[in-house]
Amino acid sequence: MSVIAIANHKGGVGKTTTTINLAAGMARMGYKVLLIDLDPQANATFALGLKKQERTIYQVLAFQDDVRKMIVPLEDIDLVPASVHLAGFEKNNEVGKEFILQESLEPIRDLYDFILIDCPPSLGALTVSALTASDFVVVALQPESLALQGMADFVRILRTVKTRMNQQLELLGIVITQFDNRKVLHRDVLELAEERYGDAVFRSHIRGNVALAESQSMGQHIFQYDDSCNGAEDYLRLTHEVVQRLNPELAV
Ligand SMILES: Nc1ncnc2c1ncn2[C@@H]1O[C@H](COP(=O)(O)OP(=O)(O)OP(=O)(O)O)[C@@H](O)[C@H]1O
Ligand SMILES: [Mg+2]
Repeated sequence: MSVIAIANHKGGVGKTTTTINLAAGMARMGYKVLLIDLDPQANATFALGLKKQERTIYQVLAFQDDVRKMIVPLEDIDLVPASVHLAGFEKNNEVGKEFILQESLEPIRDLYDFILIDCPPSLGALTVSALTASDFVVVALQPESLALQGMADFVRILRTVKTRMNQQLELLGIVITQFDNRKVLHRDVLELAEERYGDAVFRSHIRGNVALAESQSMGQHIFQYDDSCNGAEDYLRLTHEVVQRLNPELAV
């Protein structure tokens, strides 16, 4: 069983889209998956069709409530929703608060094959909590200018968290999102990313595909919305690559 944070402090790069569809892809492969929405924007919660929730990961972080009480079973994955109150967690001064999430997952770790955490676009206490609770991190990278500069900053934070909070933490890989092979800039950024980060860059790139955005406004993941679109194809390929990287002998 693995806990995987999907992160990047840069906003709008495809973290939530990747978390949802990677979780759904893993469920399609037969794995039991929990998605934790750790973003005060609650984009993953809404994109999976839920309305505003009372029981959220906020209760776990703020009051140490049992995470099992917050789990909402969906059609194929389980979800722990987010709430806007999470924003307050970034600001409070509680000592050691970045370890609460990790501790809270102990009783459920063995219930799932994968626990995926959708991180907010910041390097604050929520993202640090996710990285502290995780075995692996997947970075979503949109191939725009300055993307790699942001990546270098993020890698520095990863190293710090690994040294100070969670020695287990490993970079599982970098997924290039909204990729358009016809754009010189995108090809350049990909080439540079591969030069700098080598095999860490997943070979499966996620193309720009409007169905990915549409599915979220319909409250569905991509395999429910349109099983045969490019987005479904790309995320299924990525899922296989992620699973293979985690566990070579389990690959299908
Ligand atoms: N491959 C794609 N093709 C087309 N649209 C996409 C793709 N990936 C994501 N989007 C859309 O781009 C927007 C940003 O994506 P997403 O919410 O996944 O990014 P994010 O990194 O989670 O953002 P935030 O930092 O705000 O949490 C969303 O409207 C989403 O539907
Ligand atoms: Mg998001």
